[in-house]
Amino acid sequence: MKEKFYITTPIYYPSRKFTLGNCYTTVACDAIARFNRMLKKDVFYLTGTDEHGQKIATLAKEAGKTEMEYLNEIVDDAKELWKMLDISYDDFIRTTDQRHIDVVTKILEKLYEKDEIYKSVYKGWYCTPCESFWTEAQLVDGKCPDCGRDVHEEEEESYFFKLSKYSDKILNLYNENPEFLLPKSRVNEMVNNFLKDGLKDLCISRTSVKWGIPVSFDKKHTVYVWVDALSNYISALGAFSDNDEKFQKYWPADVHVVGKEIVRFHAIIWPALLMALDLPLPKKILGHGWLLFGGDKLSKSKKNVSKDVLDPRILYKYYGSDPIRLYLIKEVPFGADGIYTQELFLKSFNAYLANSVGNLVSRTVSMIKKYRNGQIAKITDNLENELGKNFQNDIKKQINYIFKDMEKLDISHALEGVLGIFNRSNKYIDETEPWILAKEENNKNLDIVLYNLSEVILKGATLLLPFLTDKPKLIFKAFNKEVPKYFENIDEFNIEDNIIVSDIENIYQRLDIDKEQEKLWNENENI
Ligand code: MSP
Repeated sequence: MKEKFYITTPIYYPSRKFTLGNCYTTVACDAIARFNRMLKKDVFYLTGTDEHGQKIATLAKEAGKTEMEYLNEIVDDAKELWKMLDISYDDFIRTTDQRHIDVVTKILEKLYEKDEIYKSVYKGWYCTPCESFWTEAQLVDGKCPDCGRDVHEEEEESYFFKLSKYSDKILNLYNENPEFLLPKSRVNEMVNNFLKDGLKDLCISRTSVKWGIPVSFDKKHTVYVWVDALSNYISALGAFSDNDEKFQKYWPADVHVVGKEIVRFHAIIWPALLMALDLPLPKKILGHGWLLFGGDKLSKSKKNVSKDVLDPRILYKYYGSDPIRLYLIKEVPFGADGIYTQELFLKSFNAYLANSVGNLVSRTVSMIKKYRNGQIAKITDNLENELGKNFQNDIKKQINYIFKDMEKLDISHALEGVLGIFNRSNKYIDETEPWILAKEENNKNLDIVLYNLSEVILKGATLLLPFLTDKPKLIFKAFNKEVPKYFENIDEFNIEDNIIVSDIENIYQRLDIDKEQEKLWNENENI
């Protein structure tokens, strides 16, 4: 039986059209999902939208729409965007889906039956846009520590989850599973900011929020949005339903990928809820950094987005999905923040796609056509050729690193490694100077060089597939090969049949940065 792999993005707030920042986690997870499919795993990739809470109700009202009208438009647009970016999700869960509501209802009932929740009065500070409660001590200068906006005091009857009894259990979880929360720096944040002084019970219902899932045993309450939202990871699999094969098969999640600001919900509250429900815990939480725009987070809640924050749909219109995926994956280093500027985006296109990948492919194909009429016979013995041997060894090492990086979920480094294959191949051309070898008739070394290059290009293109989903497919077409589904024999050499090339368009046309920047600046809709 195939090994299963269950990966999730957070479910996004459809409070407004999705931005480039929203694309980050989805693209990152897509690369991981695709990579694991190519490892022949049975992958289930889940994404979706988090649709309840006061903020959505208010926004819909302001727009003169019902909540569902408001939400459907944004969700449809999000699905369009995911199509543009070639996101290969297996399911899209909406917290307004009946299947989700049923599971959340059962979760609350179970917690109640097991005496994990109790009724009391909530007093605290609430940030409406972030839908988060804060204690006095957590406020920063009296404002919401997440978004910096005003909070207000609230007091109302609420149900509480006995989170306090899980402090030690969560600490043990981190101690016994050093890989549970990555990168490791996030563990210190959790311990110092939340766990060290013990956890407080968590308010998990509201009477003032109407746009939410009713608590079945006390209908004036609705379920707190974070409990509602976190449950998506099991509701999409049909947990606690008659149709729970997916839950049996895929749970626990192999990894929940989330932004750093919501790690605490995933690494503290979610495991505690699962413990209370006697369910297995996710194997890993990956807390990634943000893509910053002019030094600030591109957040759905900040109004003043700079002109550098471009609608991803406009980037797609001009450049397709590859450069967007490339930029997002490569520029946010594992666990750290990355920066977006229009200029860097265009420069990255030229450096990696046009100069490195595109150039190598078109140079190689045209040399094979020019010097060998488009055909090279299979090379079986490379041994006499020192440069070729070194080239193959370097590529083999590089491939090894890429697989190790992906095991650690370090996608930015892994993609850098894949691009390194193309750079190393360009260097191999400089080292071997095929145009000089071509001056001699029937020089065997020229065949070896062109064969090696073709083989390594096909390996590089195979490894690019999880990351860049559009143009690399054309590379296989140029070499008259099927697009591979799996990484088979990826680190073996001299295994390609005779090489036969066809014409290939220039897959990544070099861009004039000033001209493009001007064009994008004018078109920015300032979403
Ligand atoms: N609805 C909650 C998640 C519930 S999961 C059970 C939420 N939604 S969100 O839309 O605000 O954010 C979703 C994800 O997008 C978060 O992981 C967040 O970090 C990510 N990003 C939003 N802007 C981002 C960047 N500029 N850069 C990288 N990711 C960022 O939180």
